[in-house]
Amino acid sequence: MSNPSIGELARTTGLPVIKRVAGVVTRLVPIPQPVLLVGPGAAQRLARSVGDFGHRRILVVTDAMIVRLKLLAPIVEALAAGGSEVVVFDEVTPDAPIPIVERGLALMRARRCDAVLAVGGGSVMDAAKVIALAAANRKSPRALAGYFRGLHGPVPIYAVPTTAGTGSEVTVAAVISDPEAQRKLVVADTRIVPDMAALDPTLMTGLPPAVTAATGMDALTHAVEAYVSQWATPATDRLALAAVGMIFEHLPQAYAHGDDLHARERMALASTYAGMAFTRANVGNVHAIAHQLGGLYHTPHGLANAIMLPPVLRYSLDATAPRLAALARRIGAAADDDPADDTTLAQRFIDAVQALGDRVGIPRRLDALREADVPRLAAAACSEANFNYPVPRVMTQADAEALLREVLPTADDAKAAPARKRRPSAAAPAAKRRAAAAAPQVRAAAGTRARRAA
Ligand SMILES: NC(=O)c1ccc[n+]([C@@H]2O[C@H](COP(=O)([O-])OP(=O)(O)OC[C@H]3O[C@@H](n4cnc5c(N)ncnc54)[C@H](O)[C@@H]3O)[C@@H](O)[C@H]2O)c1
Ligand SMILES: [Fe+2]
Repeated sequence: MSNPSIGELARTTGLPVIKRVAGVVTRLVPIPQPVLLVGPGAAQRLARSVGDFGHRRILVVTDAMIVRLKLLAPIVEALAAGGSEVVVFDEVTPDAPIPIVERGLALMRARRCDAVLAVGGGSVMDAAKVIALAAANRKSPRALAGYFRGLHGPVPIYAVPTTAGTGSEVTVAAVISDPEAQRKLVVADTRIVPDMAALDPTLMTGLPPAVTAATGMDALTHAVEAYVSQWATPATDRLALAAVGMIFEHLPQAYAHGDDLHARERMALASTYAGMAFTRANVGNVHAIAHQLGGLYHTPHGLANAIMLPPVLRYSLDATAPRLAALARRIGAAADDDPADDTTLAQRFIDAVQALGDRVGIPRRLDALREADVPRLAAAACSEANFNYPVPRVMTQADAEALLREVLPTADDAKAAPARKRRPSAAAPAAKRRAAAAAPQVRAAAGTRARRAA
């Protein structure tokens, strides 16, 4: 069945042409980059530096886990030492639901804050970006969804990521979720790129292994989708290649030994490079499908991407073989002078992605996915991808449905699920202790999957 919303000719010929033209135009749009501070202690250095800008009062946006793990207190102390007055909003939950973003916005307005500092994962950073933009424009978060919907730029935004995955600290995007419509909404504006960001590996040592894996695979997906995008440039290629190499090298170590600061810092940098690559070259079909899974089932964003990445890479193989062959060489799956053809090398890269996912505990199928939802999820994914992303292969409704059916849970998965949950984590003792403190989040995600599978 072809996509009923657009004719076959328009889909296969018209849309790619329009997107190529759009790519020529967007290439001319300057994208700012934040001042980056990198290394242990970078978060506190950033907090002290913020004082130099003379803000009246700073809204610190974070979540309860960051406070509980005692990651926030030293940053707030450093802000105070730098002369800043601080208001803390610590209510952000995964995927930044609109009602919570609105609460942060109300606090920002009531306390007349004139800058925002995000300390957290992508959900926190995205909530902070939208709060800052909404405050400057007297608009609701929902009204900002889309491209350049605010007249004014946001108040200054500073970002301290505590996951290594989204790259939101350097991107033009903020993803919020609409719980009523069960959809994710993207706010895109070059002015929401933070002014300064700190990549501090000491904040990431307590990230549970499952979150380390999912967020790391999100970064890998950004890099790969940017690399095969029609909007790729020599600059985004360099960043994407570096990120892919670094993730293959360091994600298994960050997953198994969460307190390895070197591996954490390399993953944080890789995530930022991947963010820089995709904020220019854009993402693709993996993200288009993952966003629907996140909206409907609350599947963690990185996990949804990680599960969909190998099937989508296999699906696009004919259109991407030379690019994936280059990635195979970059990760050492092929020597520079390997005589095998591009398709063979590309297949080796896809196998390596699947093996990396297996190694860091990514399931091959999504427990929450239900056959009855497949048609509408596929339709929404096609509409997101076909109208927004410069993909190497344009999905039809039938293509998207087939991709989703590849990851439908089987009866065997349902039987194996309890055993999977009992499997001990590979974390080192220190990381394990902190992971235990963070367990409610992991349990919540697993619970969502289990409920849907039931
Ligand atoms: N703006 C962008 O460019 C962009 C890009 C990709 C994804 N996203 C969005 O970002 C969101 C996902 O962000 P994420 O993957 O970083 O996850 P997240 O921010 O939702 O965090 C996941 C969980 O990890 C916990 N956590 C965060 N840091 C921790 C730490 N250091 N130690 C222990 N626990 C910690 C959080 O409390 C949360 O429960 C999604 O909504 C996604 O759509 C945005
Ligand atoms: Fe992503």
